[in-house]
Amino acid sequence: MTLWSARTGDTSVDPAVAGFLRADDTELLPYDCAGTRIHAERLQLAGVLSDAELSEINARLEEIADAGASLLEPTDEDVHSAIERLLGPVGRKIHAGRSRNDQVVTAFRLYVEDAARQAAAATSQLASTLVDRADAEADTVMPGYTHLQRAQPVTMGHHLLAWCEMLLRDRARFELAAEHAARLPLGAGALAGSTLPLPTSDGQLPNSLDAVADRDFALDYLYAAACLFVHLSRMGEEIILWVTSEFGFARLPEHAATGSSMMPQKLNPDVAELTRAKAGAAIGRLTGLLATLKALPLAYNLDLQEDKPPVFAARKDVSQALAAFTVLVRGLEFDAEQLRAAAADPLMLATDAAEALVAGGVPFRDAHEQVAGSVRDGSFAAPGDAEQSAAARRAPGPGDVAAAVTAMRERLARGTTTS
Ligand code: ARG
Repeated sequence: MTLWSARTGDTSVDPAVAGFLRADDTELLPYDCAGTRIHAERLQLAGVLSDAELSEINARLEEIADAGASLLEPTDEDVHSAIERLLGPVGRKIHAGRSRNDQVVTAFRLYVEDAARQAAAATSQLASTLVDRADAEADTVMPGYTHLQRAQPVTMGHHLLAWCEMLLRDRARFELAAEHAARLPLGAGALAGSTLPLPTSDGQLPNSLDAVADRDFALDYLYAAACLFVHLSRMGEEIILWVTSEFGFARLPEHAATGSSMMPQKLNPDVAELTRAKAGAAIGRLTGLLATLKALPLAYNLDLQEDKPPVFAARKDVSQALAAFTVLVRGLEFDAEQLRAAAADPLMLATDAAEALVAGGVPFRDAHEQVAGSVRDGSFAAPGDAEQSAAARRAPGPGDVAAAVTAMRERLARGTTTS
């Protein structure tokens, strides 16, 4: 029995077709129960459902949401059909003034809002962990790099705060995605609304065609997830470099690393590697949904059923990667001696030497040439050491990490904004 069998009579859909068309949407079940509850309340206000019917529906929806996926049957075309079936006799009234087209996007918006808010909170959590590490490493000098060549001394605190900046922007993107998702398409029906006197409420989307066809909120979420993963992959790549014998800047915590099945000495940065790889899938999900939406005519098309699996997968990856990455950075052991030794390379103070000449009135280009000459002929003398050099370069440089840590903690506590 399908929801439209009165139209097709005895002809049943071929199993190969039904199997192909079936939605992969089990995760949506509790959100569809929540959306159905909002619709039921509107039906009661419109006089379509009695108070008693509304209470019965609400009680049943709660049971369905609690029992979850165990109630689904292989013959259910999607969770929407399943919920109508599971509501029993009272379910025969629930679909008045509604189509699965506005129903699915209502549930999906609730899902994305929830996923985005959770991602924002978990991103904040990772950033807080990093601020604590930055605080502890405020004065730990290390080489700063451009082109992966030693450039100028910075501090580990300054470096970790740079990671926090990325995460603060990610959090803002997730919060924006949540805000964009928090609108109600109910009342749009299949595409053109309904003749029933259904009330509207806050957050109502004003155009029924757009309400059933728009998936920008899902793109926003996937974009936020892709940016987060790109950032985690950049951090992960640095951790991978730092824990090599070649760099030796940090040691992996054993509870966030794996060994080798063959080589007894190995400790591998698997969390960072897997995060780096998952960035690829995160980017793919965004470009995949963009391609699905491209050139799609208004209003609803079944193409839109393909919007959910990438978002479900992104939610799982985002939450697992952030949790594992937080454990990794919390446990990373920095080797201050090794970092200091690498930062002690006197040539990294060549820019400081040129700037000292500029402070004495020498045009910068002349100062640059003079210092470059002394580097070339091996007579360069560093003006001071790495600690002094890092401390002398004030905000936005590494000079005052303690103040930058305090500012970052305030920004994290304030939420939503990036500045
Ligand atoms: N399962 C569909 C989806 O995920 C919702 C219902 C589709 N509507 C339809 N008329 N076939 O988008």
